[in-house]
Amino acid sequence: MPCRVLYSVSTGAVQLPPKTLHLEDTTVPTLFEPGSIGKLEVKNRLIRSATAERMSDLDGRPEKPLADLFGELARGGVGLIITGHCYVHDGGRCHLNMTGAHRDDLIPDLETLADAVHDGGGLLVMQINHGGRECPENAIPGPPVAPSPVPSTKGKPRPDELNEEGIKEIIAAFGDAAGRAQAAGFDGVQIHAAHGYLISQFNSPAANWRKDRWGSTPAGRMRFLEEVAAAVRDRVGDDYPVLTKLGMEDYVRDGLTLKDGAEIVRHLADWGIDALEVSGGIGGTSVRKDILQLEDEGYYLDAARVARDTTDLPIILVGGMRSKQLMERILEEGTADFISMSRPLIREPDLPKRFLEGQERPACISCNRCWPPPGEYGIACRDPNKED
Ligand SMILES: Cc1cc2nc3c(=O)[nH]c(=O)nc-3n(C[C@H](O)[C@H](O)[C@H](O)COP(=O)(O)O)c2cc1C
Repeated sequence: MPCRVLYSVSTGAVQLPPKTLHLEDTTVPTLFEPGSIGKLEVKNRLIRSATAERMSDLDGRPEKPLADLFGELARGGVGLIITGHCYVHDGGRCHLNMTGAHRDDLIPDLETLADAVHDGGGLLVMQINHGGRECPENAIPGPPVAPSPVPSTKGKPRPDELNEEGIKEIIAAFGDAAGRAQAAGFDGVQIHAAHGYLISQFNSPAANWRKDRWGSTPAGRMRFLEEVAAAVRDRVGDDYPVLTKLGMEDYVRDGLTLKDGAEIVRHLADWGIDALEVSGGIGGTSVRKDILQLEDEGYYLDAARVARDTTDLPIILVGGMRSKQLMERILEEGTADFISMSRPLIREPDLPKRFLEGQERPACISCNRCWPPPGEYGIACRDPNKED
């Protein structure tokens, strides 16, 4: 039931940092009430966060297991599914078996994904990405590219510095990929601006040492995202939902700070973005392990609060969100409008239905074994103690 609130939030076992709400006239959403992102009506507040499925062929063409997985997720009740990152340019492929959005001939195969989700009663958003310096040599035709010749924190080779022409080509590729998602019947796109990939490399002072208009100041560093957003919006029109997943803080020396992240957030609505998914971390720090108790959950909650104070856009909170109780509290608090999850939905694609039936927490133990070991195909829960 909708209710009126004026209180400080606590979770019982865990005290959320106090935040007094002044929402006397506001309807408080619960997890299973509809919400909107731009023109998109989402049936509940649960989102499947982008999760690289590695279920496409070596040409980037999605295969049947991926459509089956999306159908299963949709039937499992999640309001919105965001695909794993899809590459917009053949120089931006982050790993083998990544789904491509870089060529028109992929559109019919992409359509099978949208159909599977719609048949299951869900909505599908494509996450579009370019890996920049994170791309391994076996996944791209030439050397990796980046704003500056600064190697990845993961110890990958020194990338080539992009010139003006290369930057413009990639910006246009983001727009073209968004157009393909729209043509294939997807319900929106999400621009991946987190986790140390190309856009996050431009945003980060640790990775972007440029002295030209694409770097040197916060406005220069965020220009790449601004122009990607403009190219996407230009291609898909005013009404098509465009989301972004933004790394608000890098957690590395000389990297993007939360203050810098907030400065980017401040511009998103003006750039035509319809919703913000708050994330952070570069070099693999975005997927924290062992979320086993309430205290470990919601590790981007502080960043989301800064975002909430900075923008009126719908906010999606990801990062170790596990217990239903905490999700409801965060929606009530008003910090986020949607909750997204990745690993729990690998183990239990029908988790939303289970939540409705009374389950309080996912079975996922956040052990990070869901990534396929080298040579293996597709994400799967590989918890050695898994019985179901
Ligand atoms: C196997 C795997 C693949 C992922 N792939 C992506 C991706 O393609 N794009 C992205 O933005 N985040 C990706 N993530 C990060 C998740 O979307 C999410 O931000 C992170 O796992 C924290 O959420 P969780 O605690 O619910 O798993 C991936 C995570 C996992 C475990």
